[in-house]
Amino acid sequence: MTDADGSNEAFGVYVHWPFCLSKCPYCDFNSHVRHAAIDEDRFARAFAREIETTASRTGSREVSSIFLGGGTPSLMQPQTVGAILDAIGKNWRVARDAEVTLEANPTSVEAERFRGYRAAGINRVSLGVQSLENDSLKFLGRLHSAEEALAAIAIARANFPRLSFDLIYARPGQTPSAWRAELTRALAEDCEHLSLYQLTIEAETPFAALHRNGRLKIPDEEQARALWDVTQEVCGARGLPAYEISNHARPGAECRHNLVYWRYGDYVGVGPGAHGRIGSGDIRRATMTERHPEKWLALVEQNGHGRIVDDPLRQSEQADELLLMGLRLSEGIELARYAALAGRDLDPARIAALAQEGLVEVGSGRLRVTAGGFAVLDAIVADLAA
Ligand SMILES: C[S@@+](CC[C@H](N)C(=O)[O-])C[C@H]1O[C@@H](n2cnc3c(N)ncnc32)[C@H](O)[C@@H]1O
Ligand code: SF4
Repeated sequence: MTDADGSNEAFGVYVHWPFCLSKCPYCDFNSHVRHAAIDEDRFARAFAREIETTASRTGSREVSSIFLGGGTPSLMQPQTVGAILDAIGKNWRVARDAEVTLEANPTSVEAERFRGYRAAGINRVSLGVQSLENDSLKFLGRLHSAEEALAAIAIARANFPRLSFDLIYARPGQTPSAWRAELTRALAEDCEHLSLYQLTIEAETPFAALHRNGRLKIPDEEQARALWDVTQEVCGARGLPAYEISNHARPGAECRHNLVYWRYGDYVGVGPGAHGRIGSGDIRRATMTERHPEKWLALVEQNGHGRIVDDPLRQSEQADELLLMGLRLSEGIELARYAALAGRDLDPARIAALAQEGLVEVGSGRLRVTAGGFAVLDAIVADLAA
């Protein structure tokens, strides 16, 4: 596993902050609302302890990326972010050019903290804008307006060298022309990176209940495809092609941390409900920590870590994960790497049939899903993994 430049092995650290001001009706991330104040100092001490314990298992590694995700990490005080980054720096070597991302919600209160985050060591922000239409923001249960989001983008741009924002499309009733206008407005912000997610109905969310009762209708396959096509066309024309099924960047501005996941590299996860994958061959392990914030806190204070899953992955399982993650990327997967893990080649007849339909292509020892194939990625992965 090498970096894009073919140099050293990438190693990422993911830190999960599990709290939000309110729960958005579509979201099934590990996020919790607390009405009492959160003892950030206590959480920061627990993060530092879990970081130390985790580092003692990985041994000496150079950290190439850090990602503070959530929940809403921008609810943390800058000094809490600083304490977490300091703990990472004390326990691993952090590359001088490491990418250090913080996910932020674009309310004005949070934007006020941006300068402090930059001083703490954050160099990239990913803003959860979700929409640039106020009606849609209300529908999505967001606490910010489109005007506030645009102001937060401007403040983020002034404070951080790198900036991305998220939009959710394929919303109920959204027409291709309305999405084209909204996306064009978003691209006018001239950011180097955009994450563009189709609205997914996740089980056990308020949207799932509305969907079940027929009170929330999302675009059907054909309508979603038309919106997808607009996304590819408009972003491509602005020099932000998709490098991953939902992520667009100027060449060179890809999110290095997320590339570690999709290239099936090594990363550790700290904080409630964080996942990790580390090692290779017979000793690659899948880890996960306790999801519930206060239970995680108690476990860390008692044992030095909140890890509740620590499973060795069989090589065939690693091959499946490599396929699932790697085919999301436009660069695809290295066929020889898959074969070494699976103990067999991917079925050439299946690849040929998919290639015949224009859904995948093979070249330079790699298998890639084509732009047309991305619209049916799940079916392609299921077909190849069968
Ligand atoms: C960890 S979440 C949110 C980070 C941050 N708390 C926020 O809301 O901006 C990362 C992104 O996933 C996307 N997302 C979450 N649930 C989704 C869903 N059901 N369908 C589509 N996108 C979703 C949103 O765009 C969100 O910004
Ligand atoms: S979308 Fe973001 S703010 Fe909303 S509940 Fe999920 S993590 Fe929290």
